[in-house]
Amino acid sequence: MRIDIITVLPELLESPLSHSIVKRAIDKGLVEVNIVNLRDFTTDKRRTVDDYQYGGDAGMVMMVEPIDKAISFLKSQRHYDEIIYTSPDGEVLNQKTANTLSTCENIIILCGHYKGVDHRVREHLITREISIGDYVLTGGELAAAVIADSVIRLVPGAMTDDSSALTDSFQDNLLAPPIYTRPADYKGWKVPEILLSGNEAAIDKWQMEQAIERTKLLRPGLLEE
Ligand code: ADE
Repeated sequence: MRIDIITVLPELLESPLSHSIVKRAIDKGLVEVNIVNLRDFTTDKRRTVDDYQYGGDAGMVMMVEPIDKAISFLKSQRHYDEIIYTSPDGEVLNQKTANTLSTCENIIILCGHYKGVDHRVREHLITREISIGDYVLTGGELAAAVIADSVIRLVPGAMTDDSSALTDSFQDNLLAPPIYTRPADYKGWKVPEILLSGNEAAIDKWQMEQAIERTKLLRPGLLEE
């Protein structure tokens, strides 16, 4: 899988994608992440990517031309399954979307900035808009890092068996059950007996019950979905 991220702030994306499972997936050659500097697709000396809004409202708008050039350049190299624009207006990212995106061959993520993009980008260049939650970030880079992270860890081979995606919260619309490690008794705070029993079937049953209980308590809306 290949992810191209178009941004005006490449530095912001370096660290989030250079550690842990994401780094391992990249090092193993399972995923290629390519950061594209939008300013490389400008034509003026100042490498301008934004301009004033028509209509006179405050706030700068990302221009259509550099974005079109960047996307067209990438599309001339390979086919893309999705061209995603990060914006608070988009569909809110969830595990199902991450699962679907992890099966893509190539995706582009365009990071929004300033007031947002010229509307023609939305009309003609992107295939979907994704938000990471109902709040406004300074720019789309952190959202792009969140999307990329949630997708890359699901690419087959990215995770070792002991960090399997199947036990993640949300994978079946349930929160994960409580987990523990040694010691079994810390200051009298005990690990549930059942987990020490070695009875795998009973443990599976307990974990499922706990997952349902925690979901009912903390995120009842997930059960309705
Ligand atoms: N850009 C600004 N806020 C955002 C959000 N909540 N999700 C995705 N991109 C954004």
